Amino acid sequence: MPDVTLTTLQSLKQSGEKIAMLTCYDATFAQTACQAGVDVLLVGDSLGMVLQGHDSTLPVSVADMAYHTACVKRGNQGALILADLPFMAYATLEQALNNSAALMQAGAHMVKLEGAAWLAEPIRQLAERGVPVCAHLGLTPQAVNILGGYKVQGRQEASARQMRADAMALEQAGAAMLLLECVPSELAAEISQAVKIPVIGIGAGSATDGQVLVMHDMLGLSLSGRVPKFVKNFMAGQSSIQNAISAYVKAVKDQSFPAAEHGFSA
Ligand code: KIV
Repeated sequence: MPDVTLTTLQSLKQSGEKIAMLTCYDATFAQTACQAGVDVLLVGDSLGMVLQGHDSTLPVSVADMAYHTACVKRGNQGALILADLPFMAYATLEQALNNSAALMQAGAHMVKLEGAAWLAEPIRQLAERGVPVCAHLGLTPQAVNILGGYKVQGRQEASARQMRADAMALEQAGAAMLLLECVPSELAAEISQAVKIPVIGIGAGSATDGQVLVMHDMLGLSLSGRVPKFVKNFMAGQSSIQNAISAYVKAVKDQSFPAAEHGFSA
């Protein structure tokens, strides 16, 4: 078992200590992130963009995710490992079960699925079979072609109401954690209050129970040169990557990150 478990994350929510999550795709960075105090290593399908150079996460396969999850597991020193099920890898219930098994067997402690209330059944069945699930709401990059781009979600009253209802339905179905991406800060605060499970934000303001960033973004590395508003470069002024990640963890824990300028309004 890792030092950080689901129980740890629930206690952190209850105590008000913020959870520091960071993406990670290999053993060396896993070790460095753990030594810097990161609680949760997210093997994100963002690897399709930052490692593989694609312009979206859609080309990433289950084999890619299993490979990088296994790499992260080898360098992990006690963090909880969360791994993304990639595009169309949970389109059917059978795929959700089989592909989650592949990631758990590669070393994940929890899997992440993007989507809303339609995920209730896969989440229920995975939880019943011993697989904790993090549900990803708001901007769901695997649906970029439906969303019409990487845009803030939940700005209209109807979509905000729907997101609140989806969050409650997914918690009810057995989700162990929620991740909100690019959601107005006020809405993310309401959802974080309304559910008992930990809520992690990225571009979702400071009132969620924790934060996540893509490691390359927070180290100031960008292939496209476009830096999202919610990103802060923690490498600036630091002499090592470990110091930059420690500064990120400290800023999440002391709540100096994210600042108001990193969030979105309705
Ligand atoms: O794939 C990923 O890195 C993610 C984060 C952007 C939250 O899902």
